[in-house]
Order: sequence, then structure tokens, then C-alpha cells
Amino acid sequence: MLKKVLTGVAMLGSLALVATGCGGSSDSGDGSSDSGGVIKVGFAQTGSESGWRSANTESMKEAFSKENGFDLVFNAADNDPAAQIAAVRSFINQGVDAIVIAPIVEDGWDDVLNEAKEADIPVILEDRTVSSSDDLYAAWVGDDFTKEGETAGQWAADTFGDTATKLVVLEGTTGSAPANDRATGFDSAIEGTKIEKIDSQTGEFTRDGGKKVMEGFLQKYGVDGIDLVFAHNDDMALGAIEAIEAAGGTPGEDIKIVSIDAVHDGMQALVDGKINFIVECNPLLGDQAAELVKSVLNDESVDKQTFAVDQSFTQDQAAKVLDSRPY
Ligand code: AHR
Repeated sequence: MLKKVLTGVAMLGSLALVATGCGGSSDSGDGSSDSGGVIKVGFAQTGSESGWRSANTESMKEAFSKENGFDLVFNAADNDPAAQIAAVRSFINQGVDAIVIAPIVEDGWDDVLNEAKEADIPVILEDRTVSSSDDLYAAWVGDDFTKEGETAGQWAADTFGDTATKLVVLEGTTGSAPANDRATGFDSAIEGTKIEKIDSQTGEFTRDGGKKVMEGFLQKYGVDGIDLVFAHNDDMALGAIEAIEAAGGTPGEDIKIVSIDAVHDGMQALVDGKINFIVECNPLLGDQAAELVKSVLNDESVDKQTFAVDQSFTQDQAAKVLDSRPY
């Protein structure tokens, strides 16, 4: 399968749409419904669990703006998979032209995706993936979660691999693609090293969740019993920092932390020495998602997968870019 690389924030070009569309509502010959060339899009967001999610929602709202020719129906499901599926069903009933989903979890999508297909409404996935057949959606744009986990794990292996190291993991939402894939990537990178995973639990990708799980780990093992935290996102790492400090430890020194996202607060903690390494997960996917929607509605062929390019940061690297980063 072709991998198209998303090299930055792509600009949406002009909105002159020419070919016939395949939207669910009556077609105006420009890929949109009969409401003056405006493309009605339902977007089912996961919720508002993290700084990453806020940046992603903002990017999507900017790209699917009225100025860009869209009528966006936005839903954030508060990380409830059933509520998210209900939102997609409501988009189908409203007869939107296209549906964009950031799926909370990978499983459970077959029925509603088949319903969208029967209604002739194309579905674009952004950010997370599903376990359903890829016949049931037109395209996906997002980040390579397995590679992010591998990069974080490789840093851990290079830094601690020869020394006996007690690791705890703050997992993302159970059943979500980033939680599954980051765990797989990280575990494969530390295999054969002296890093021992002593505990792993979900903190739901939230700061509060990360703090509570870390408090539990600290009660169980003590500050001296934990050497390294792998947090599946920055927000949980920030929660862990609060828990370590409350337990009398020094985050980044007594207990090292590696996390994923590279949102502003995480990068600030890295610069401050409280986090030791961060792998980026680019949330600015809106323009690419909007381009995919237009192309699909115009019956143009699109790549099934489009990957964002992610970097990683040490403390020095973070200090150089912190002020210039857009999120
Ligand atoms: O799916 C991307 C993940 O979801 C981000 O890493 C996390 O912060 C968010 O909640």
C-alpha cells in the first residue's frame, strides 16, 4: 500500500470542485449537497482528553471552516465508544456529504461503517485506526504509533539497556490504536535489554488519570523502586510528575520519564528536566483530512494511508524549538 508522507501543514487550495461527487445527500455536481456548494461534514472526535486532542480539534475546525466551503457538524464523544458510534449514526441520518472519524477504539466499527456505505456516505479516518476491513472507509490520515513507541523504546534501550531498570507504563485508552501500537513498538525496542516492566495500567490519556495511576505505583513500589516511566502521552507524564513530586521524588532524576506527543506543556517539562525524552505525534491533520474529503467526493483516487512525519526531542533539542512550535 502506498504511503504518502505528510511533510507539514498543507495549505488548502482553492475550493473549485469539478467532478461528480458521491455524497449522501442530493448532489450539486461539485461533490457537495444541494446547499450552495457547501460540503456538509460530520466529524466524530474522541473527546477532549489531552493537549494533543485540543490541538487536533482546532486544526480540524480551521480546515473544515465555512471559509473553506464546509458546514461542519462537530461531535466530541467524551471517550465513550458507544456515544461516538451514536454520533456517526446521527450524521448518517442527517444525510451529511462525508463523515470523518477519530475512532476512540479500534474494534466495534463494522455495523456503522456498513450503514454509512449503504447510505453512500464516504468515511475518512483521521488520527486513529480501526480493525474493520479497509473496504469500509475511503482513507486514513494520521501518525505512525508503532514507530513512535519504537523510538521511545530505543531511547530507553540506549540509555538504560545495560543497567537493571524497573519500568512502569502509563497506558493510553484501552483498545485504542495508539495504546496498542505504542506498547507493541516500545516492547519490541526494549526486548533483550535489562529493562524490566514491573507494572502497566491505563491512565486514559489524561493528566488526572496519569497522576492517579502513578500515585498507585508509588504507593506499591516507592520512589526508590521505580527507575523509569513510559507514558503513552505527555498529559499522563505531566500527571506522573505531580505524583512523583508529592511523594518527595525528583521527576527526571530519581525517576526518568519518556513520553509521546510533544505538546507545549510536555516540551516545557522536558526543557525543565522533569521529562527526559519526548517523541512527537503531530496533531495538525485538519488540512490533509479536508483535502481527502474533497478528493473522495470528487471521485479522485486517494492513498489509503497518509502518514504524518514525527520527530523526537532531547532536552537541548526541545529548548531550541519550544518557542517556535505551533502547539
Ligand atoms: O490518538 C492520539 C493520542 O490521543 C495522543 O497521543 C493523545 O494525547 C491523545 O489523546
